[in-house]
Amino acid sequence: MNSVDSTPVPASLVIAVDGTSGSGKSSASRGVADRLGLRYLDTGAMFRAMTWWLLREGVDVRDAAAVAALAGRPRIDSGTDPLAPTITVDGTDVSVEIRSDAVNAAVSPVSAVPEVRTRLLELQREAIGDGGIVVEGRDIGSVVWPQAELKVYLSADPAARARRRTAEQGGTDVASTEQSLLERDRIDSGRATAPLVMADGAVHVDSTHLTLEQVIDRLVELAHGAGARSGV
Ligand code: DC
Repeated sequence: MNSVDSTPVPASLVIAVDGTSGSGKSSASRGVADRLGLRYLDTGAMFRAMTWWLLREGVDVRDAAAVAALAGRPRIDSGTDPLAPTITVDGTDVSVEIRSDAVNAAVSPVSAVPEVRTRLLELQREAIGDGGIVVEGRDIGSVVWPQAELKVYLSADPAARARRRTAEQGGTDVASTEQSLLERDRIDSGRATAPLVMADGAVHVDSTHLTLEQVIDRLVELAHGAGARSGV
């Protein structure tokens, strides 16, 4: 830990971390929240939980009207401890299930349905509450919490993202992981409602040639700057 780490940040600080699939958002956001004593919210896990529930119910996820009609049904709860985040649907822990290939393939079309986004936006704002949290996703700085004191847009080259994601999943097929990531990026960036964009005022951090620790150091440094400027 360096000296800047020990300076407290404002208790109400909100850090929005957006970026493409596999850019390292989750690990970096959890690391920053842990170092700064903040909570952590993984909004992607919420979209994944909704998708897991729809698949289990046998809903055709390409049928936007069917998805919209059911979006209010599952109860989705997120635990915000950065060292042990949790996600449950109607009380069942689905943290493993939401990382399956079936959910990977279905989550982008589900996330493009406006009724799904409205429902989850409500839960996300509730979870942010009085702040003191690092929130990661695609539209946090642009839609969910545009007033965040610090907004970060994290990116990395597709090949680097695919290598990291494959290693995380203990797989070996980097090429097919890259295809799956690029397909999700295409849908997430092209949708009409809350597409992935770099929010106004966001700081762009390219993690291609950085280690996780270096990304965390950079975000912690930015958080101290934002906290000092906000004066909250
Ligand atoms: O971050 P992730 O890969 O777990 O996100 C899964 C999907 O959820 C992603 O492909 C798009 C969607 N998503 C979204 O649309 N908006 C967010 N704020 C977070 C995720």
